[in-house]
Amino acid sequence: MEFEAVVKARRSVRNFSSADVPDDLVRSLIDCAIRAPSSMNGQPWYFIKIRSGETKRRLAEIKDKYCPPEKREFPASFLMDAPVIVITCVDRSMAYDRGMESGILATGHLLLAAANHGLTGVYLSAYKIGTPEVADDIRKILNLPADVDPVTIVPIGYPGDTAEPKTLKHVEDVIFNETFCRK
Ligand SMILES: Cc1cc2nc3c(=O)[nH]c(=O)nc-3n(C[C@H](O)[C@H](O)[C@H](O)COP(=O)(O)O)c2cc1C
Repeated sequence: MEFEAVVKARRSVRNFSSADVPDDLVRSLIDCAIRAPSSMNGQPWYFIKIRSGETKRRLAEIKDKYCPPEKREFPASFLMDAPVIVITCVDRSMAYDRGMESGILATGHLLLAAANHGLTGVYLSAYKIGTPEVADDIRKILNLPADVDPVTIVPIGYPGDTAEPKTLKHVEDVIFNETFCRK
């Protein structure tokens, strides 16, 4: 697909068709993710592919357990229906104190690469500032060492639905020339 068309087509769809996403396709998405910018070119990332139903269930349980009431619009149970989940993690020893930023950028690449193949991916955080238990619980089920931080959880699959149209801000409303001036 043409790049702008991919960017404009990307949406989060939380139900998936029964079609599988084979390993070689996941590999090609991750091959795009590793091309993201990273602090000092540290490339601190690891990507963990999850296909086990039990691991998907435990991830959903952790996400729901720590989800505050005002964010309960999207329960995490849909994670269990995704053919594959990719967890982006970062190794602090290669992250130059910017692990989260680098991991999030790699996730952005992953989401766009998925959209380019007609797949949907949904961004979920794998950590919560001020609540280290979220990352710790995820670390335990993925066997991550203490110096490797989980950053995002991205269920990926072919959409089983079309996304509701999204109201976008007008681009003119978010552009300023030289200085900020509330509109
Ligand atoms: C930082 C961040 C956290 C998010 N957390 C969740 C989440 O916990 N659960 C979920 O279902 N979607 C989550 N999303 C996805 C957003 O809900 C989604 O991107 C947004 O509603 C816009 O829809 P779109 O992706 O279809 O454009 C998150 C997205 C971002 C960027």
